[in-house]
Amino acid sequence: MTREHWGSKLGFILAAAGSAVGLGNVWKFPYLVGQNGGAVFVITYLVLALTIGAALILAELALGRAAQKDPVGTFANLRGGAWSLAGYLGVLSGFLVLTFYSVIGGWTLAYVVKMVDGSLMETGLDLTGTFNGFVSNSVEPLIYHALFMLMTVLVVLRGIGSGIERCNKFLMPALFLILVFLAVRAVTLDGAAAGVDFYLRPDFSKFSGDTLVAALSQAFFSLSIGLGILITYGSYLDRSQNIQRSTLWIIVLDTGVGIFAGLIIMPAVFAFGIEPGAGPGLTFITLPGIFQQITGGVLFGTAFFVLLLFAALTSSVSLLEVPVAYLMDELQLSRKTAVLVLGGVAFLIGIPSSLSFGVMSDMTLFGMGFMDLLDYLTTKLMIPAGGMAVCIFAGWIVWPRMQTEVSNDGTLAFPLSTIWGWVLKVVAPASIAMIMVYGFLH
Ligand code: PFF
Repeated sequence: MTREHWGSKLGFILAAAGSAVGLGNVWKFPYLVGQNGGAVFVITYLVLALTIGAALILAELALGRAAQKDPVGTFANLRGGAWSLAGYLGVLSGFLVLTFYSVIGGWTLAYVVKMVDGSLMETGLDLTGTFNGFVSNSVEPLIYHALFMLMTVLVVLRGIGSGIERCNKFLMPALFLILVFLAVRAVTLDGAAAGVDFYLRPDFSKFSGDTLVAALSQAFFSLSIGLGILITYGSYLDRSQNIQRSTLWIIVLDTGVGIFAGLIIMPAVFAFGIEPGAGPGLTFITLPGIFQQITGGVLFGTAFFVLLLFAALTSSVSLLEVPVAYLMDELQLSRKTAVLVLGGVAFLIGIPSSLSFGVMSDMTLFGMGFMDLLDYLTTKLMIPAGGMAVCIFAGWIVWPRMQTEVSNDGTLAFPLSTIWGWVLKVVAPASIAMIMVYGFLH
C-alpha cells in the first residue's frame, strides 16, 4: 500500500499547528502569563520555543520524513535495537494523553451546548457549583466524552488528506477568526486597558527559576513535542517541503494563539474586577460569569467555547493518529480497524478519568486521582523522556542523516545547522533533565 501524503503545504502546516494549538493555549497559557510576570513570561517562552522547541520540532519532522513511518518504525528503521523503545514510549504517551484530553474536550462540548440552550445564562446562577456539579456527575460528562471521542474518530477514519487535513483547513481559519472577533470585543470593554497592561507589562521581579521551568514545560506540551506527533505528521511529507520554514510557522501560530487568547481573557477579567491569577477555574467558571454581564453574551460565550472545542479537536485528532499509524505500519491493520479499536479503548480508559472528579474522587494513588495521575505520568515524565530520546537520537546517533534531511539532500541552505546541533546535543537534553528533576521535586 502506498503511504498517504498531505495534499498541500498549507494543509500540512495547518494540521501541525492544529495539533499544537489546543487547550494548552487558550486555557493555560494566559494564566501562566498572568501569574509569572506578564511580558517577562511571554519573552522567556518565546526564547525557549524558538531554541529548544524549534530544535525538537525540526528533529521530529526530519526523523519522520526520513523514515516515512510511525514513531516505532522510525526509530527501528533509522537505527533499531533498543532505540525502538523510544518509539513505543511516544505511541503510548500519545494514546494516554488522548484518554483524558477527550474528557476535557467533552467538557468544552458540554459548555457549547449549555451556552446555546441558555442554561449558563440564568442570572444568579452559582457558576462554581454548576461546574463542580457537572464534572462530578457520573453520566453527563461521559456522554460528552463519548461524543468528543466520536468526533475525533470520524475525522481520523477518513485518513490524512480527506480527514485530518480537510478538518484542519476548515477549523483552523475558523478558530483564527473567532479569536480576533473575541479579542476586539474584549479590549474594547470599559476598563480593559488595565488588563492589557497587567498581561503584557514586564515585571522583572517575578522572573525566577520557576518561571523558566514553567515556560519550558508549557513549551513542550503546547508545541506537541515529545510524543511522536510531529514524527508521525512528518512521515506523511515528501521532500518538496522546506521543514525549516514549517517549524517556524508552527511556533508562530501556536504562540500567536496563546498571546491572543490572553488578550481575550485578561482584559475581560480586569474589566469585571476578578482575580487574574484564578488559574484553572478561569475558563469554565470565571468567563461564563463575564458573558452573563455583557450585551450579546450568549453570542460571545458560544463563540468562545466553540473556539475551545475546535482547538481541542484538532489536537485530539493528532493524538489518535500516532497510535493509529503504529498499528497500520507495524501490525498491518487497516485504518478502520485501528481507529475503531483505539478510539474505543481510549474512551474506556477515559471513564475513570472522568469519574475521578465524582464517585471515584476518593480513590487516589500518591495523593492523586486517576486523571491527575495520568497527567503527571505523561506531562512530567513520559513526554520529557520522549523529548530527551529525540534529541539524543537525532543529535548524536543519526546526526549526518538529519543534516541531509533538513537541507533536502543539500538542495536547501541550512544556515543554522551548527546552532541546531549544539541545541540538540547539549542544551536541550540538559534543560529537559532539569525539568524532569524539578517535576520530581514538586
Ligand atoms: N498541544 C496541545 C495543547 O496545547 O493543548 C495539547 C497536545 C496535543 C499535547 C497533542 C500533546 C500532543 F501531542
